Amino acid sequence: MPQTKGYSRTQIRLHWVIAGLIVFQLIFGEDMGRAWLAVENGTVPEMGTLVWAHIVVGIAVLVLAVWRIYIKVTRGVPAAPPSAPWMETAAKIGHLALYAVMILAPMSGLAAWYGGIAAAAVVHELFKPALILLILGHIGAALYHHFVKKDGLLLRMKTPQD
Ligand code: HEM
Ligand code: HEM
Repeated sequence: MPQTKGYSRTQIRLHWVIAGLIVFQLIFGEDMGRAWLAVENGTVPEMGTLVWAHIVVGIAVLVLAVWRIYIKVTRGVPAAPPSAPWMETAAKIGHLALYAVMILAPMSGLAAWYGGIAAAAVVHELFKPALILLILGHIGAALYHHFVKKDGLLLRMKTPQD
């Protein structure tokens, strides 16, 4: 995979837009949960604004994540800042897991809702705690770099190097 001096403007925008959309999904997912319960109980789900928002925002995450991965593979990302080997490994695994969830969370949701696959809904629900843990770890690492190591890592996701 190619390596660059820094993230591009598009990569930075995609990072923050996807982050915002995912936090939205985590905060406002409950109405979708209720609609799904109605489906499971054989009744007609109430298709309120938040249910439609969950579907549209979730599909947007899927499309944007595919775009983001395409840019990562073709353009590349900057090398990890020098850290203890276990931290570099943890960052690699954490980022890989975040990319996997960005793709698999919307796909499992779609498989449940439009494919009627109940097992996909169970998997989909498990992504909620998994995502929360991954994001908390990710934010913790970013703050550690910023305040403890003071290596300017947060700035890499702010200032584009096109
Ligand atoms: C307030 C929340 C967040 C902060 C402060 C933050 C901060 C950062 C920073 C500073 C980087 C750059 C790391 C580097 O240069 O090596 C980064 C990379 C990354 N972030 Fe976040 N992030 C946040 C939320 C999220 C969310 C919600 C996701 C996805 C679910 C996410 C996914 C990623 C991924 C996959 C990378 C690695 C990009 C690469 O391939 O190099 N981030 N984040
Ligand atoms: C990034 C994308 C997505 C995230 C982070 C996400 C997250 C969530 C969350 C937090 C819940 C609430 C779980 C609970 O009841 O506590 C939920 C439920 C649900 N979502 Fe998503 N969702 C995403 C995309 C989608 C998409 C595209 C669909 C397709 C229609 C979908 C369908 C569902 C269904 C059917 C439920 C109810 C079943 C269940 O609770 O497992 N989701 N989602």
